[in-house]
Amino acid sequence: MNENSKLAIIGAGSVGSSLAYAALIRGSAREIVLYDMDRAKAEAEVLDLAHGTPFTGAGRITGGGDIEAVAGARVVVITAGAKQQPGQTRLDLAGTNVGILASLLPRLVELAPQAVFILVTNPCDVLTVAAQGIVDLPPGRILSSGTLLDSARLRWLIAERAEVSAASVHAAIIGEHGDSEFPLWSQAKIGSTPLLEWTNSAGEQVFDAAERARLHEEVVGSAYKVIAGKGATNYAIGLSGARIVEAILRDEKAVLTVSTVLHNYHGVDGVALSVPAIVGKHGVERILYVPMDEPESVHFRASADALHASIATLGI
Ligand code: 2OP
Repeated sequence: MNENSKLAIIGAGSVGSSLAYAALIRGSAREIVLYDMDRAKAEAEVLDLAHGTPFTGAGRITGGGDIEAVAGARVVVITAGAKQQPGQTRLDLAGTNVGILASLLPRLVELAPQAVFILVTNPCDVLTVAAQGIVDLPPGRILSSGTLLDSARLRWLIAERAEVSAASVHAAIIGEHGDSEFPLWSQAKIGSTPLLEWTNSAGEQVFDAAERARLHEEVVGSAYKVIAGKGATNYAIGLSGARIVEAILRDEKAVLTVSTVLHNYHGVDGVALSVPAIVGKHGVERILYVPMDEPESVHFRASADALHASIATLGI
């Protein structure tokens, strides 16, 4: 791991705290700082997490309501902001959360000028575009967790259906982290078998058009389903965030589906959407140009249109 493996998490709500928990258990960072303007909440979460550290790796957690504690972090993850209520889309949060980002980001960059910034707050793609206008950082150093979580949801669903380990499923959801996201079926594989050719033990095709449509719908509806039942999603996004942090702090050059501002990518320009990218110590180090079939290109441009429309209403 990098010599400086300080991770700062902004926002001690259910997402920020779960991310800290995941990072401690996975050993993603040596030093974790959890900050929230609600000092009492942040201090209580830190205490609860710190009490568990005798059972985790070498990681240490501190924090509270003092933003100065972020100083010198190598990775800053922003989870602060209004969260989706039942019936709301992620894009409905844009105005409020861009305002919160604008109030926080300049100070965070001052405190941690070398950091890679990961935006988890929704709508994360819109916030990624907004961030480029708020601070002046190389584009790869501001990314969002994007559809890494949705890709994990898809991989889990495929794994359950194919009766294989989720680790053996190579599949991605790309586009907006939101309602217009879609699976890149043409590139999906189980082990080295193209998903479209996967058969069960009776030799029947498993992932026919109807099944693929069902899985796509299930992924898009996942957050709504969890929010309806318990008010928020937190564990899986916590793990997704911790995974990105590790890729950066360990300079892994891992291929992860994250969101950054795209230029001249399958006809898309100036909006942030998730596509597979190489993530290492500099953040997004290379955006990979994935082949898409015609329906996938249409979906991708529709996702970009949804983002452009949201950005236009905000005037950013
Ligand atoms: C999720 O997909 C709500 O964006 C959050 O879990």
